[in-house]
Amino acid sequence: MKILITGGLGYIGSHVTTLLLQNNIDVVVIDNLENSRIQVLDGIKSITGKLPLFRKIDVSNESEMNQLFDEFTDIGGVIHFAAFKSVSESVSEPLKYYNNNLGGLQQLLKQIVTRSIPLIFSSSCTVYGQSETLPIREDEPLKPATSPYGSTKKIGEQIIEDCCKAYPDFKAILLRYFNPIGAHSSAKIGEYPVGVPQNLVPYLTQTVRGIRPVLKVFGSSYDTPDGSCIRDYIHVMDLAQAHIESLDYLLKKKNVEACEVYNVGTGNGVSVLELIESFESATGKKVPFELSDPRPGDTVSAYADPSKIETNIGWKARYSLEESLYSAWKWEENIKN
Ligand code: NAD
Ligand code: UD1
Repeated sequence: MKILITGGLGYIGSHVTTLLLQNNIDVVVIDNLENSRIQVLDGIKSITGKLPLFRKIDVSNESEMNQLFDEFTDIGGVIHFAAFKSVSESVSEPLKYYNNNLGGLQQLLKQIVTRSIPLIFSSSCTVYGQSETLPIREDEPLKPATSPYGSTKKIGEQIIEDCCKAYPDFKAILLRYFNPIGAHSSAKIGEYPVGVPQNLVPYLTQTVRGIRPVLKVFGSSYDTPDGSCIRDYIHVMDLAQAHIESLDYLLKKKNVEACEVYNVGTGNGVSVLELIESFESATGKKVPFELSDPRPGDTVSAYADPSKIETNIGWKARYSLEESLYSAWKWEENIKN
């Protein structure tokens, strides 16, 4: 049996592919390289000693997907990462996001629902918006999406839930990631931000490296202990492990519902200023930063209640914030632009 990873050369997908190969699981990766590089395969090979089967395929292309499922008749599970993820770009180019993120999901579902192949879907804590209660539980009412990107995650979840109802043998898990950071400890794979990073940690590491002059802390008078925003930062290797364990849970038919939803976070709320301090203590490097205006659209505080995934699936985050930030820095030092 093979596991199909869509978007498997991207940031999270490459870490999951690596872990699957290390667990001696046969992997087929598809990626259209829109936001990744083929050299990621070298990194995976150098960590695991193996290469996944790779096809350069667009998940939203029906005939390419038909060919893929004709070629590999033993696909027994799918982890679906392939999507665009820039919030700001989704605001200026909404159709690009609806086409790719939802068109791709639909083409994938066409292949797998009738074959009853279980699915793990990459969702996001963005579906909660500013939650009324903290930490955030999965049954928290969802807020209207604040961007087309967020909409694609909410609608994507709904499409999968509808398919689980319509096809009784089709099972899925929706994983709502909080803020993935860091890289594999080898520093051979990690995140390549395209252009100026929008996310905090890649901006911070580029600033420390001297590529950016100063890190702006977006907002310093929020109603939080130190005035800066609070998030739940999770090591990408912990996140990768959550996929492995969720897939195993589905394949062993331990699920109770046809479609189950889980937060993937540490449960620790960390402010931007605390993160800067942790980075400095983990790496011994000073972070040039200044307090700045809030970023429009930011939620003030978001961190997970991760107890559901721990109780049902047995997964729990293991890495500390310092370990995550140290790995992010080692990766940054290794990036050859
Ligand atoms: P990424 O951009 O690094 O990886 C996505 C990969 O999918 C890329 O390699 C890209 O080339 C590929 N891809 C995009 N469209 C494709 C298509 N139509 N056909 C084939 N390949 C395609 O992103 P990531 O950070 O690894 O995120 C993976 C998934 O997790 C995405 O669905 C993203 O929305 C979701 N997610 C990410 C975060 C985060 O902070 N990184 C948070 C929550 C959810
Ligand atoms: C963003 C996305 C979210 C996505 C998530 C993935 C928005 C509004 N939301 O969330 O949909 O799922 O990334 O990781 O873009 N910050 C600074 N200075 C910077 C950059 C960020 O202070 O230069 C702060 C932000 O204000 C925020 C925190 O750092 O408080 C984290 O920001 P970021 O990494 O962009 O993630 P999110 O905003 O949580």
